[in-house]
Formats: sequence, structure tokens, C-alpha cells
Amino acid sequence: MKKITIAIDGYSSCGKSTMAKDLAREIGYVYVDSGAMYRAVTLYALDNGIIQGDEIDEERLRAEMGNIEISFQFNPERGRPDTYLNGVCVEDRIRTLEVSNHVSPIAALGFVREAMVRQQQRMGQEGGIIMDGRDIGTTVFPNAELKIFVTASAEIRAQRRYDELKAKGEQCDFQEILRNVEERDYIDTHREISPLRQAADAIVLDNSHMTIDEQKGWLIGEYIRVACG
Ligand code: DC
Repeated sequence: MKKITIAIDGYSSCGKSTMAKDLAREIGYVYVDSGAMYRAVTLYALDNGIIQGDEIDEERLRAEMGNIEISFQFNPERGRPDTYLNGVCVEDRIRTLEVSNHVSPIAALGFVREAMVRQQQRMGQEGGIIMDGRDIGTTVFPNAELKIFVTASAEIRAQRRYDELKAKGEQCDFQEILRNVEERDYIDTHREISPLRQAADAIVLDNSHMTIDEQKGWLIGEYIRVACG
């Protein structure tokens, strides 16, 4: 079967990475979480005083982009790759609220996006890759053989996040989570460079009323249809 490129884009918290990593494991493809790369740049900027409060020292970040090396290493325990920043595993640190709160403006900077897109395109040179993000089917791999655009209602995505946080024993307020989901949707779809939008040739998956297993089955079906076609 030929090795294809699979681009999975969509709104935050709609289960893109779960679907993508499960399919990658099933079919032996490389999985890349492109959001983790923007999070790693944000962590570098926080650790090095490039972000102070809400201010970003853009000139310093631009000058230091060459010092930021991001890589992935498969972690068999988690069944997905861990993110490394300059040789150090930062998988847990990039998921903190501090990084989540600062990543959107970093991901909106043109020079950051250019550097990340170049690196993502290099990773996908050989095919056999599944990448998820916001601009994979439109900018990173416009020629991907299979493009999926995942969506679910804001209420359902907020409810999933609420249930996840509750299961971890964290205190949370549904209305606050819903506001945060809606705010991130707005930022992702309205930024100037590479806003989140559906590629013209993407297949839409509204998973509002699907279980994880149903999504998995649907995605494998699409992969077989394209890779064998
Ligand atoms: O998917 P995520 O929540 O981990 O993404 C983190 C941030 O990076 C979020 O603000 C959207 C942004 N992002 C992006 O702009 N382009 C991508 N290809 C992936 C993520």
C-alpha cells in the first residue's frame, strides 16, 4: 500500500490528536502533533524571559529562533511521541495552563509559523505521516492525499474538557470552560496568518455524537479508501 500524507485540522478540544495517534499506531505511520511545536516555542520564550506578563519581546524571539530545536521521540508507555526542546523532554511542561495561556499570540507570529511550517514539511518529506493542527491541509501539506476537518459543537467540546478535568479531580466551572473554548475558536479562526479554515478538498467529520471507537472506525475507512484507491 502506498505511503500517503494525512492532514487532520480542526477546532481545539475536538479529539483530533486522539484520532490521529490511534490511526498512526494502527497503520505504522509517524504521528506529529504540530500544536506541541508552538507550545515548545512558547515554553522556550517563558523560560528565557522573552515573555514577561503579556508582553512578547518579538525581536529577541526572532533572533533566537535558530536556537530552538524541537524533536519527537516515541514513548511506548503513552503510545505516542513525547516532545523534546533542545534535547530535553518537555511533554508535561508544554501542557501546563501557563503555556496554554500564552501560546495563541506566539502561534500568531509570522516568523514563528514560517520556522515551524518548514520543519513540519521536512518531517513529511517521505510520506507515511499523520499531522494534526490548524493549517496542515491548507498550508503545511496542501497536497496531502487525505485531509480531515474535525468539528463538534462548542458545548460538547466544553463538556468533554469539563469531564476530563473532573476525572483528574480538578475544580472547574462549565461556563468558564465554554467561554475559553469559544475564545480560542475566535482567535484560531480570525488570526491574520494561516487562520483555521477547512481546506476545499477536506472531508468534514462532525464528531459531536460519535464515540472514540466510532471515530476510529470512520478514519480507518477513509484511510483505506484513499490509500488503496
Ligand atoms: O492543538 P493545541 O491546543 O495544542 O495548539 C496549541 C496552539 O497552537 C493553539 O493556540 C493553536 C496553535 N496551533 C496553530 O496555530 N497551528 C497549528 N498547526 C497547531 C496549533
